[in-house]
Amino acid sequence: MSAATGPLLEARGLRSGYRGSMVVDGIDLDVGEGGLVAILGRNGVGKTTLISTIMGLVRPYSGSVRLAGRELAGARPDAIARAGVGLVPQGRRVFAPLSVEENLRIAVRRGRAGRWTVERVYELLPQLAERRSHRGDQLSGGEQQMLAIGRALLGNPRLLLLDEPSDGLAPAAVRGVEQVITGLRAEGLAVLLVEQNLRVAFALADEIVVMQKGRIVHRSGTTEFRRSPDIARRFLGVA
Ligand SMILES: Nc1ncnc2c1ncn2[C@@H]1O[C@H](COP(=O)(O)OP(=O)(O)OP(=O)(O)O)[C@@H](O)[C@H]1O
Ligand SMILES: [Mg+2]
Repeated sequence: MSAATGPLLEARGLRSGYRGSMVVDGIDLDVGEGGLVAILGRNGVGKTTLISTIMGLVRPYSGSVRLAGRELAGARPDAIARAGVGLVPQGRRVFAPLSVEENLRIAVRRGRAGRWTVERVYELLPQLAERRSHRGDQLSGGEQQMLAIGRALLGNPRLLLLDEPSDGLAPAAVRGVEQVITGLRAEGLAVLLVEQNLRVAFALADEIVVMQKGRIVHRSGTTEFRRSPDIARRFLGVA
């Protein structure tokens, strides 16, 4: 398949871990242009390590990660960001002592140029505009998540990696995150979402991928997955 017609993200035979341990153990994964794939899996199966490997924060032992046909495996995180991959990390990781505005300005300096500007982020996320002079650690969990998303958007990604964005949030804040992701998709952004909240994954994803011990043990369309509760029970331990 040529770069023009292939998926936006194409990972093949990806293996990685820490000091020789094999945490991601041969992952093949595609995300189409404008698509949303959700990765499910219990704690410790390697979801964050997979995301970190795609972002270049963990170096792959072997395998390939292509974005629009361009090989990224082994590149540094800043080069991968400039190629068009944005990360909203697990735990949000906003700079606590810096204001909302400063958090966003730093992201502008690090990202690649494009249509996302601080003003556009404030339009998308008006709750951040209201809090622009508040410190990162004065924000609610939901506001911190919005700030983390805003920071990632300022890198003008083609593919957004979101690692458990609903984790620890109140139901209203989870709905806010869902609405933002839905809006971004409507603009054509492709998303790879790690999520332990099945309801959120079902609401957002076209395709569901289940990881266990560093491997993909199940993949299906979201509708098909929802019709097979035995799969969720077997791999995720939920009814
Ligand atoms: N920086 C690190 N150094 C060494 N081992 C690590 C590191 N980060 C993760 N691991 C190990 O790799 C394995 C997978 O961890 P990872 O964080 O990728 O899982 P996860 O699926 O994201 O889990 P969770 O759902 O709890 O976020 C675990 O055994 C973990 O202890
Ligand atoms: Mg994780």
